[in-house]
Amino acid sequence: MTRPLTVTVTGAAGQIGYALLFRIASGQMFGHDTPVRLRLLEIPQAVRAAEGTAMELEDCAFPLLADVEVTDDVDVAFEDANVAMLVGARPRGAGMERADLLQANGGIFGPQGAAIAANAASDARVVVVGNPANTNALIAASHAEGVPAERFTALTRLDHNRAVAQLANETDATVGSVSGITIWGNHSATQYPDLSHATVGDRPARELVEESWVRDEFIPRVAKRGAEIIEVRGASSAASAANAAIDHVRDWVLGTPGDAWTSAAVVSDGSYGVPEGLISSFPVTSNGGDWKIVPDLDIDAFSRERIDASVAELVAERDAVRELGLLRER
Ligand code: NAI
Repeated sequence: MTRPLTVTVTGAAGQIGYALLFRIASGQMFGHDTPVRLRLLEIPQAVRAAEGTAMELEDCAFPLLADVEVTDDVDVAFEDANVAMLVGARPRGAGMERADLLQANGGIFGPQGAAIAANAASDARVVVVGNPANTNALIAASHAEGVPAERFTALTRLDHNRAVAQLANETDATVGSVSGITIWGNHSATQYPDLSHATVGDRPARELVEESWVRDEFIPRVAKRGAEIIEVRGASSAASAANAAIDHVRDWVLGTPGDAWTSAAVVSDGSYGVPEGLISSFPVTSNGGDWKIVPDLDIDAFSRERIDASVAELVAERDAVRELGLLRER
């Protein structure tokens, strides 16, 4: 057995939290020889519900679960955290303007970034799930003085997994035979699910599917899948989001297999014309510690236009939060 890793989950009493915590505690994130300590952060009104979840975690008698702590104090929540999964966020209420939404989330993610810098382990890695995820990650990173910006990421793995599944369905292939999918840009309806480099088995995906299917079905379906799930299920995607968050952290910490890439929103180094410092989704690999943006992919005119449109939205969100005073310049 290796030493326990401390994982902080915010919004622990929510839907995604409930789908996430039991899988982490059972060893599905770091493997079956790494014990975990869980720290659950909630707002005061939801602490009791999170305590109920902690009781159920106890009742599972997971051999790998070393400890569970529930708190509404950000400093306690992030103490010694090796991994922070920022799920809790402020949803858009009826009649709420975009600026109000950004302001409310800035009030959550700024202090959480500062608390991570002050209390987390020196190797802390952060994934933001709560929406608007990319911009919330940017706000948190800007407040985390002393923590490398590369340690702050946002989740686009759910979009990636959805794109893999859609392509596998359309080509009657298994998901395991699909590779080379990329989600670019923002985790929003402007995201660009790109299959121009994808393969199914040993064949380029573009040889197997119609151009019109890509434009008129694949791209909008992946980008709007969250709304489709709400319509059909009557509630938002929680288990698949939790699953994707686990995939993201596992691949980041343990490494991506072979030369296969996945998608994650990471800080831009200026690659592919994405302004440096934005947290945007890219094709990425991990060596088991650091994400690396896959270099030198050819970007055709159609992809360029789609990437630029989603990145323009990220720039607008960044400018809006900067104007609201929610970004701390580092
Ligand atoms: P939920 O509403 O069921 O749970 C959210 C929880 O966060 C609540 O228990 C709430 O009390 C808590 N919370 C709110 N503010 C907090 C704070 N300051 N500190 C700690 N906890 C706080 O929502 P659900 O379904 O679990 O979704 C969570 C977030 O994930 C939402 O913002 C949703 O839009 C986002 N999401 C992101 C996806 C992605 O792929 N990036 C996919 C699906 C959802």
